[in-house]
Amino acid sequence: MDNIAGSPVEGENFFGRNDIAQHLRQILDHDDILLLGPRRIGKTSLARAVMAITRKDGWKAIEIVVASCIDEKGFLDKLEGELKKAIDSRAGKLWDGVREKFGALGKRIKSLKFGGFGATAEVGLAGSDADDWITVGNELLALLGELDDRWLIYVDELPIMLFNIIRQDQTGGVLRVRRFLDWFRNDVRALAGAGKVRWLISGSVGLDTLVQEHGMADTINSLNHQNLPPFTDPLACQLIRELATSYKITLDDNAVRQLVDAVSWPQPYYLQIAFQQLRSLIAASPATTPQDLIETAIDQIIQPGVGADNDFHHWEKRLDMQLAPPLAALAKALLAQSAARPGGTRAENLLDTVQQRHPGASDDEARALFVRLRDILLRDAYWLADDSSGGGRHYRFALEPLRRWWNRRNSL
Ligand SMILES: Nc1ncnc2c1ncn2[C@@H]1O[C@H](COP(=O)(O)OP(=O)(O)OP(=O)(O)O)[C@@H](O)[C@H]1O
Ligand SMILES: [Mg+2]
Repeated sequence: MDNIAGSPVEGENFFGRNDIAQHLRQILDHDDILLLGPRRIGKTSLARAVMAITRKDGWKAIEIVVASCIDEKGFLDKLEGELKKAIDSRAGKLWDGVREKFGALGKRIKSLKFGGFGATAEVGLAGSDADDWITVGNELLALLGELDDRWLIYVDELPIMLFNIIRQDQTGGVLRVRRFLDWFRNDVRALAGAGKVRWLISGSVGLDTLVQEHGMADTINSLNHQNLPPFTDPLACQLIRELATSYKITLDDNAVRQLVDAVSWPQPYYLQIAFQQLRSLIAASPATTPQDLIETAIDQIIQPGVGADNDFHHWEKRLDMQLAPPLAALAKALLAQSAARPGGTRAENLLDTVQQRHPGASDDEARALFVRLRDILLRDAYWLADDSSGGGRHYRFALEPLRRWWNRRNSL
């Protein structure tokens, strides 16, 4: 097993999540899936494992990454491009006909006048004979219905695309996002042959928060929501043992245990990166017992320039993306407060911070604000609720290296 810390893993390196992949595959028999979770928790690796299973079952599977799309036209362009590639790789009369139609649709997509055209002014400008992206999108999907195959379309980073639309179009953006999600929920599912096409949608910034904050949670209700829990303890230990074996490093059970505990939220990426740091420390000082190097390894993860540093920044940035500025600032203040100690901070003390920062709010309002943010921070895996200290409920960081990083950034 290779010590990969960054790129998606496949085949032998895809550890411990075959059951989840099989489970998602079964869901796809009847439903489309929404797979949300922070960066680096293994979404792409999992999605590719699911694609591999569907391909064994005879489906066609394509992947589109839409993070760079700033409008609906960009989305269709990506979709058409990948579908075309999949179809181009096929020979045969049936495919020739479809290929031709695809070519024509591709041109229409490229010549769409308006990327999104949710705003009424644009509709007026476009006139009645201008193509609407929804019309073209429906025709594109209807074309798939003409083929015998079943399709899995994996769309990565859809929430970023939707946030892009909102940011670029201050007046009409939210409406366009609603229209896009409505299109997805209604038109796409109603198309003839819709049963042949399944969607696996994923993203590292909360689509759930976006739709809640804009009152359109109904638009994603029809998707089957999935997340990626961390490894169980035994599985996390097994991953470290298998890596140690591959790299001929002797780690006794205590050392394995200690490394897993030090990560504290055993998502595979953080295990991989902790092992990677430990591995290079061991190589640099072979005379030291590995156990004595674990603490340093964890500290190295949070240093600027180490790969994981980027990912920690993402935890901060995604708050800005998902939340309005005052809310994001408050969330960061609460996180900074709870980062001071591994055991976190008492709920009451966090509530005090909300009250101090919002002196105009009534007690009830401050409480409601705290609860709203707390639920987001729990759901997005920044925090865990901890009742074990005896001193009342504490909220603490789930991922210990992230806590240290946060703390370091907030210290002078
Ligand atoms: N099943 C797994 N077995 C072993 N390592 C894994 C597994 N899944 C993920 N990883 C680790 O996590 C890293 C990131 O995986 P992946 O790219 O699939 O995550 P992601 O959630 O798609 O990330 P991003 O949000 O950055 O796109 C991998 O490089 C690897 O270190
Ligand atoms: Mg990914």
